Amino acid sequence: MKQAQQMSLQIAIDGPAGAGKSTVAKLVAKQLNLFYVDTGAMYRAIAYKALKNGILLEDELSVSQIAKTTEIILDHSEERVVWCDGENVTLAIRKPEISRAVSIVAAYVGVRERLVELQRREATRGGVVMDGRDIGTHVLPEANLKIFLTATPTERARRRWMELVKAGKNIPLEEVAHDMKQRDRQDIERKVSPLEPAQDAVILDTTGYSVEGMVAKIVALTQEDEK
Ligand code: DC
Repeated sequence: MKQAQQMSLQIAIDGPAGAGKSTVAKLVAKQLNLFYVDTGAMYRAIAYKALKNGILLEDELSVSQIAKTTEIILDHSEERVVWCDGENVTLAIRKPEISRAVSIVAAYVGVRERLVELQRREATRGGVVMDGRDIGTHVLPEANLKIFLTATPTERARRRWMELVKAGKNIPLEEVAHDMKQRDRQDIERKVSPLEPAQDAVILDTTGYSVEGMVAKIVALTQEDEK
């Protein structure tokens, strides 16, 4: 790992939906006393705002225009409130309709430019663990440690389904698996910043791993000497 002071330590965690990024990233951040930045929440906030304003998701210009003026604030307390232009959207952005809409808006250059600007701004506040799809390849190319987390598609769909069930959503597993497959394809095939591991990323498969085991592995990687 590239060495850094704790204050400026940057850990990038990328990977597909349901790989366990946010669970692992939050715990690594807590253990190392770093900020956790959930970049997916920012894309979700833009999808939410576009839908709320009655904008057609396919209207790239209007969606990009909206993104340009949107202020998104991620609260770093345990509650992890997501503020979008002063509105608490923490729960609203997790709804299945937002999960379906978000890949469309995340493919737009204008949206990505604005959100990457906000994400890099977050990284100036101190050491960070940032999770997303393009953190190691684009947002923080100089990150000290880059992790690409993955898991089998069946396992990823099962995890996302469990999250929804726990949140009281009654949705068939097959529907979650179908939506996830579609989203993966959109994220991998998009022209701008597609989902792919950075060349210097450590690829970790979380299938069958405990959360604690994965967190310990990543923390240990931060303590390795510069290669
Ligand atoms: O991690 P998530 O499921 O909350 O991400 C929501 C969507 O945002 C997902 O379809 C991929 C997209 N995304 C992205 O394109 N780039 C990021 N850095 C983070 C998320």
